[in-house]
Amino acid sequence: MRIFSGIQPTGRKHLGNHIGAVRGYLEGQDRGDPAILCVVDLHAITVPYEPARLRSLVYDTLAMLIASGLDPDRSILFRQSDVHEHTELSWLLSSVTAHGDLNRMTQFKEKSAAQRELVSAGLFLYPVLQAADVLAYRAHEVPVGDDQRQHVELMRDIAERFNTAYGEVLVVPEHRIPSVGARIMDLQQPGRKMSTTGSEERGLIFVDDEEKAIVKKVKSAITDSGGEVRRGPDKPGITNLIDILAVIRGVSPEAVEREFEGQGYGSFKEAVAEAVVDVLRPVRERYLELRPDEGALEAVLGEGADRARSLAAETLADVRRAMGVGPPA
Ligand code: AMP
Ligand code: TRP
Repeated sequence: MRIFSGIQPTGRKHLGNHIGAVRGYLEGQDRGDPAILCVVDLHAITVPYEPARLRSLVYDTLAMLIASGLDPDRSILFRQSDVHEHTELSWLLSSVTAHGDLNRMTQFKEKSAAQRELVSAGLFLYPVLQAADVLAYRAHEVPVGDDQRQHVELMRDIAERFNTAYGEVLVVPEHRIPSVGARIMDLQQPGRKMSTTGSEERGLIFVDDEEKAIVKKVKSAITDSGGEVRRGPDKPGITNLIDILAVIRGVSPEAVEREFEGQGYGSFKEAVAEAVVDVLRPVRERYLELRPDEGALEAVLGEGADRARSLAAETLADVRRAMGVGPPA
């Protein structure tokens, strides 16, 4: 079973990434043959960014992944731009991608609406590159958070259209989205997902936040005026905290509701804060150890890219042959 996922090197990673996605990567590491995880720097350039910071953000992201338990000896960890097969396949796949489908992508609509200067063609083609990321490895499974559901649906359509047109060359992948925690919400605006773009710092818990900051953010999380610890559409703030605690403890949200029945928000929030602090502490400590050694991080990326390239090159040879591109085999 091949497992592939990608993560953007955009800023500090947060609790939503950790709960919604990184846990899925770790689970994939145990089942994947291999598990492949890519830091997608070429996706990050589709919106305004600072070239001088991009490399450093890739190291931040890689160090965070390793600190979370991803093991470069067991999984393939690499930087997208190091494996040119992604960009080539992206172009080849663009000819079996419907323009209308790209136009319907929620993430494109949201991100393009947020641009002040330029809505780049790269932003529009972003999901095609993402499809190439996965399809280049003939991956079966894609662990992601809920916001990537539509992108995985699209890559399935692309793979199917390719196979219909050119023969069974590509594997049609499936998403793996956790049933609880796939959409962690902003602590201050529980109607929107936790995200580094468009959230205030108070609404986000960063993976490398200090313990005091975490406690403060959880305790000042927006809740409703009722006092009951239960989930419901009228209680998005409390629902979010229940989900967070449930995932960290590995129990169901119902079990959390039962445990805190009859107790106020105060003691519940204390329990959530403590759980988040405990789960992130070792990650932050390890991150601080790993991050300074950029030479070691670069070595991990280089080795990962070599392994990734040899897998992707096989698929590309088949794709080119099927499409009649390039010299005869
Ligand atoms: P990104 O940082 O946008 O590359 O996202 C990396 C992974 O984290 C993707 O699989 C996302 O679906 C997931 N993710 C991002 N934000 C959240 C969130 N608020 N809750 C759960 N998962 C998330
Ligand atoms: N678009 C994804 C995100 O924003 C990142 C990503 C790029 C990805 N390529 C991928 C995720 C391939 C899964 C598979 O989170």
